[in-house]
Parts: sequence; C-alpha cells; structure tokens
Amino acid sequence: MPVTIVIGAQWGDEGKGKVVDLLAPKMDVVARYQGGANAGHTIKWEDKEFVLHLIPSGIFHEGVECVIGNGVVIDPVALMDEIRQVEALGFQVEGRLHISHTAHLIMPYHKRLDEAKERYRDAGAIGTTGRGIGPAYVDKFARNGIRVVDLLDRDGLRAKLEAALEEKNDLLAKVYGADRIDVDAMVEEYVEFDRRIDPFVTDTTALLHNALADGKTILAEGAQGSLLDVDHGTYPYVTSSHPTAGGCCTGLGVPPTSVDRVIGIVKAYSTRVGNGPFPTELTGDLGEQLRQTGGEFGATTGRPRRCGWLDLVALGYATRINGFTELAITKLDVLAGLDELKVCTQYRIGDKLTDRFPTDLDALSKAEPVYETLPGFGDVTGAETVEDLPQAAQDYLAFVSERLGVRIGTVSTGPKREETLVPA
Ligand code: IMP
Repeated sequence: MPVTIVIGAQWGDEGKGKVVDLLAPKMDVVARYQGGANAGHTIKWEDKEFVLHLIPSGIFHEGVECVIGNGVVIDPVALMDEIRQVEALGFQVEGRLHISHTAHLIMPYHKRLDEAKERYRDAGAIGTTGRGIGPAYVDKFARNGIRVVDLLDRDGLRAKLEAALEEKNDLLAKVYGADRIDVDAMVEEYVEFDRRIDPFVTDTTALLHNALADGKTILAEGAQGSLLDVDHGTYPYVTSSHPTAGGCCTGLGVPPTSVDRVIGIVKAYSTRVGNGPFPTELTGDLGEQLRQTGGEFGATTGRPRRCGWLDLVALGYATRINGFTELAITKLDVLAGLDELKVCTQYRIGDKLTDRFPTDLDALSKAEPVYETLPGFGDVTGAETVEDLPQAAQDYLAFVSERLGVRIGTVSTGPKREETLVPA
C-alpha cells in the first residue's frame, strides 16, 4: 500500500493525531500536506501528552521519516519551537524531519493581517485561529510569497522582506489601522533562520518519489477537516487550504494513482470551532455535556468547540468528495450514558427533504436536521474487541457504516493508544 491518506471527515478535531500515531509504526514516512500551525494534533502515550501543530504525528516513532510538504504554510518561529520541544522529550528530529524547500512561510505580517482582517469583518468574522494561515495562502496564490528556499539565501531574503514589508505595513496601517511592523527587527530575526532550518530542508517531492520507487509506505496526514476545505467546505467559513484527498497530491507532489487507502476520521458526534453553519448543533445542556465529557476545547486556541449530533448528510458528502475506503470512528466513549442518540439522516430546507449537503451558504444556513433516533449505550471502556461493546454501541457503528456505505476499520474508545478496537 504506497500512500494512505488520513482525512478529517467533519470540521476538524476528529482525533486524526491519535489515528496517525497508531498507524505510523507500520509506515516508512508520515507527511503533512496542507494547513499550518492552525492544526493541533494531540498524541497521548503512557502518562505523556503532546500537541503537535506542524510536525507530522509520526515523530514519536523512531524509525519513521517525517515530511512537511510543499502545500503546508510554515511559521518558522512555531516550527523551531516545536522541534525544540520534541527534542526535549528525547526524540531525534534532525535527520528524520524533512521540510519542503518550496513550502511557503508564514511571516509576522500574516499573523497581524489575520487578526486585523477578522476585526474588520466584525460580525462576519470567520473565527480563524489567528495563525496567519489565510494571508499566507493569499500571498502564495498572488505569487508574492516567501518560501523556505528564500530563507537559505540570506542576502536575497533581506531584499525580499524589505519589499514585502513596505506593502504590508501600508496595508496594516492605512487599511486596517493596525500597528506597523519594524523592518529591521523582522529582518534580523528571519535571516537567522537560514542556519537553523538548513539541516531540515530538502526537495521533499523527490524524497517521496524515491520512497515510492523503493516500495516504501507513506501516510499523508490531513489537518483540519473536509468541511473546512476552501473549495468543498462551508465557504467562506473555511480554512484556506485543501484538507480533502486532492490536497494530498498537490501538497506533496505524489500522483493520485499512488493512493490506495483513504481513511475518513469521524468523531462519533459533531464539533465545530469558529463560525459558520452547523445544522446539528446542540446549543443547550446536551451540547455543554458533550463539550465537557469530550474535552471539546481547541487544541490550538483553547476555544470551546460547538457540539452537536452526528450528521450523516455532511458525512455522505465528505465520503463522496474523498472516496473514503474506510472509516475510523473516534470518541465513542463520549456518547456513553446518553439515553438515546440522534443521527441526522436528512435536511429539511423550506418544504423539501434532501440527503444532499448544500454547498451554498444560504441553503445550508436554512437546513434543519431530520433525525433518526437510536438507543443509547453504557460504558465502553475496557472493551478489547468490537464484540465486547454494548449491543447498542455496535448497532450505532453498524448504522453509520451502512448508511455511508463504508466499512469501519478502527474504533477509538478513549484517548490512549490502547483504547482502540479494530473490527474483524
Ligand atoms: P484558519 O485556518 O485559522 O484560517 O481558520 C479558519 C477556520 O478553520 C476557523 O473556523 C477555524 O476555527 C477553523 N480551523 C482551523 N484549523 C482548525 C483545526 O485544526 N481544527 C478545527 N478547526 C480549525
């Protein structure tokens, strides 16, 4: 199996980090293909916990090579800090982490613009993570970006940064009324990255092609979720990249024909952080209960996540976009103890029923969920096989799998590595 993609099937925070961490020991390479430090992939082992924002979740398995691909936007400050933290835990990073020379950089002005634009949008704010993701991708596609390879050219970088800041400072000050950034301080900080980042930089596309030619296995680790995809998500309440399967090919430079396994990570209920439509949202006590039981607070920003029932209309859409070959159901334990479970199987929009996910914001905002109700189940902890689960929990899983037409390959019943079941 050359390339396996792990993709969030909802609005992110599905528990991709845990699934990637579980699969990583069987892989030769784990590669991030999009997004940036807006991601927060939580890994728990023994009594330890670590939230990775940029480094692929394979880093805690010594034999695994890790790649940050060309499609990722890299904040060098965040990256260097994360490398230091992972090394402090005793893991070897240099020699194992490979950073694409063509990946674009997140600069201080991107972060400042992200905040300024959100303030400017006022009531229409997207609720971004404030990590500069959108503005960095804007510069990439406007062909104004600064790339990793530019960092290695100290003299050229100085000129590029000065030119970029001239424009960005005008934008910050004159359009958004925000503070200007000091050119000298920024140039001084960033030219220093050339030495620090150099040992990690390579042509990662060539590295991955060599890996494929050698028969090695690659795990492509998606960040965020399918419904946050800039093309296929709930635009404009999306991130600025392609978390969906196609993003893996452009964000790493691997051909679609090398991909033979696409794992959709599905949380047993739904969450969303940031603004935008969320048809199955529970705003009352039940939503609060899910938030508390599931620890639904952003791993990157700490914001409380909005919680709701599982939405098979949205998941059907994500399945068709990504071509999931299997599902990993996470956080099943969070539903334990509820009397009954609702699953959205259709939307009512005006006087029409549909099982198709509307991709225009207006229709989606009007969508009312139509639920089917399933019996609740009790404690699932300690189960060693799917057959050990309460019958109602097995029925819930079977319902999801049948309706989506995709088999379930993994069920997670708690945050630890060992709290994972693999159906026969
Ligand atoms: P941005 O990616 O920071 O521009 O934020 C755009 C939208 O994506 C906001 O609604 C964020 O809350 C959301 N978002 C970005 N990264 C993540 C993530 O890793 N998990 C969940 N939501 C995210």
